[in-house]
Amino acid sequence: MSSPTVAVIVVAAGSGNRLGRARPKAFVTIVGRTILERSLDEVFAVVPPPQVIVVAPEGEMDAAQRITDGTAATVVTGGATRQQSVGRGLAELDPDVTTVLVHDAARALTPAALFQRVIDEVQLLGRGVVPGIPVVNTVKRVDERDGVLEELDRAGMREIQTPQGFPRAAFVAAHEVASQEYTDDAAVFAAAGHPVSIIEGDPLAFKITTPWDLRHAEQLVSTSGVPGGAVTATRTGIGVDVHALDDTRPLWFCGVYWPDEPGLAGHSDGDAACHAMCDALLSAAGLGDVGSRFGTDDPRFADAAGAEFLTETVALVTGAGYRILNVAVQVVANRPKIGPRRMELETVLTDLVGAPVTVGATTSDGLGLTGRGEGIAVLATCLLAAL
Ligand code: CTP
Ligand code: MG
Repeated sequence: MSSPTVAVIVVAAGSGNRLGRARPKAFVTIVGRTILERSLDEVFAVVPPPQVIVVAPEGEMDAAQRITDGTAATVVTGGATRQQSVGRGLAELDPDVTTVLVHDAARALTPAALFQRVIDEVQLLGRGVVPGIPVVNTVKRVDERDGVLEELDRAGMREIQTPQGFPRAAFVAAHEVASQEYTDDAAVFAAAGHPVSIIEGDPLAFKITTPWDLRHAEQLVSTSGVPGGAVTATRTGIGVDVHALDDTRPLWFCGVYWPDEPGLAGHSDGDAACHAMCDALLSAAGLGDVGSRFGTDDPRFADAAGAEFLTETVALVTGAGYRILNVAVQVVANRPKIGPRRMELETVLTDLVGAPVTVGATTSDGLGLTGRGEGIAVLATCLLAAL
């Protein structure tokens, strides 16, 4: 397997003074699993797997090693400040890494999907990228003596979260020349003159700082609505789709374009993989099937991409109160060859679904319509958690 081009540095070396526990914050548990473990669960769900660097407090190196045992993660000792801890992590980057994410372990419930979006955006724009959420409360600048000094316009404000992502070379250089302590990694990057873009953050990426935050995290984890949360009931689904090959059309399959391959006939772009996934998800949620949801007589879907159906389906399923745990796809076809592009397909589909998607393939030994090369068949299954 090729070496990762993305690295995630998880900073966990703080002491957690404001939480006020005996052990450093990252080693405090939320319903039986440490804050660091819960953060890493989501980092390890990112595809393709990034290089993972954990920055731990000196006194917890053994505990951090135990937590990462059996994984490819590197553990290093942190510094006196967060910025120094990030610097220790940067020193461990693999040679092939071109995109670096820095993440607070304290944001323990941050979903893998947010990491994926930050990575995509850094790679698309070549800029720094930070997630942010709108400020909901009125914001004023105040001081002790005079009280309220100024009303601030919250419309132009965002609360900034992690993971924050950067092009490696520029970020490492910015870190080396930083002459003061900045409030976050994007500030270090911006101080060196580089642009930073903002993407929509996720409320689940909140930072556990105070005892109230920890209790909030515990309550969330006790329900099934969050990554790693309690699962009280699951539902499985199945979907099958078959399309004939059509030489006159381009091939869109598993959400990506396949040059030099015959296309698929049928409604929309004929992406049988996306359609089978939609059927699996809809069946698990008891929401009917692709035919009844996205009817062939509806002109809106005439040329719709498979990815659009999938996005729409994910919204329907989550809107109905389910969390998608995973989707498994099995392609039955002579062509296209899935193996060489498996990682890319899994990345694209995982991004679209917001939960791990795996793609496998088989031929049908020369038998039937797939064996004769007349068409492609796809089976998909999925597992949902009921909220
Ligand atoms: N951090 C770090 N090294 C430091 C300080 C902080 O790796 N020297 C990490 C923390 O472990 C945390 C993240 O930076 O995951 C965000 O910091 P914060 O929430 O402030 O954590 P603490 O510094 O541990 O908490 P406090 O400020 O309450 O002591
Ligand atoms: Mg701190």
